[in-house]
Amino acid sequence: MHQFIAGLPKAELHVHLEGTLEPEHCLALAQRNGISLEHKTPESLIRSYDFCDLSSFLKVYYSGIRVLVTEQDFFELAFRYFQRAASDGVVYVEVFFDPQAHTMRGIPFDVIIQGIHRAQCEARTALGLESNLIMCFLRDQSAESASEHLTMSMPFNDWIVGVGLDSDEKNNPPSKFAKVFSDARDQGYQLTMHCDVNQVNTLDHIRECLDLIKVDRIDHGLNCLEDDQLCSALVERGIGLTICPVSNRFVVQSLTSDAIRSLLQKGVKVTVNSDDPAYFRAYINENLMALIDEGGFTKEDIKRLMTNAFEIAWLPGRLKAKYL
Ligand code: HPA
Ligand code: ZN
Repeated sequence: MHQFIAGLPKAELHVHLEGTLEPEHCLALAQRNGISLEHKTPESLIRSYDFCDLSSFLKVYYSGIRVLVTEQDFFELAFRYFQRAASDGVVYVEVFFDPQAHTMRGIPFDVIIQGIHRAQCEARTALGLESNLIMCFLRDQSAESASEHLTMSMPFNDWIVGVGLDSDEKNNPPSKFAKVFSDARDQGYQLTMHCDVNQVNTLDHIRECLDLIKVDRIDHGLNCLEDDQLCSALVERGIGLTICPVSNRFVVQSLTSDAIRSLLQKGVKVTVNSDDPAYFRAYINENLMALIDEGGFTKEDIKRLMTNAFEIAWLPGRLKAKYL
């Protein structure tokens, strides 16, 4: 099974670039940029990755982000992730980045995106890995801040395929961002939003995503299983869910393999992804192996999940055909 998973050409659609910051790299960047960290060794950092819910995770995630300062830092972060992904058999990836988490520390938008874009170009030529970039807005920041970042992105809109919404979901519903997502749509961006598992009002958030924002995809979103009408709407509209099993195990103490199986059976286009692999200590192959080892998934199930990923990828049809 390991060989099958490793050899399968894969697409990943839900991975936060800042969540790929490995502890060794975090410590090296802290030293290079003169930033003091509470933890001084990789082992000590890893011991601090002890999350029980979304907010305890986000605290550690934002603390790690502070070490990213220069264009070269963003290049290295992205290129290292691309190297790992390519060696895991990923052929296409859509990566999220969180510009507000950097601009609020005084890092210019163009420094962030130039570094990431340079890594994408090098990954294409040196690793044969195709990638696209999704700009996420932090939902615990204001809608005005999101709009300002949409404007900042416009000179680089050829480098960005879509916008997403992440960070702390509590009291930050999709409707708060209706205007900026509508503007993003007008600018030609694809739309997705996180509806993390078991959040307060999660079904309302999923409904708003579908009926108000009219998203193209939902990140997580597996609570839709609690409402047959929601599942039917997802199937009818061909809206995919990007699910992250090991992330779920950290955040809601379950791999959610039964839910993933039910979604597959209902014909919802579910996919498997790593979310924040450096923090959850599991890249895409480990997520797939967990479904096989602990969830009883078969090779056919895994192939279906991966076909779903290529089908809902934000790639032009002629490029998609290469993978399907
Ligand atoms: N959920 C919400 N926001 C995030 C996540 C996540 O898993 N990772 C990075 N930002
Ligand atoms: Zn996520």
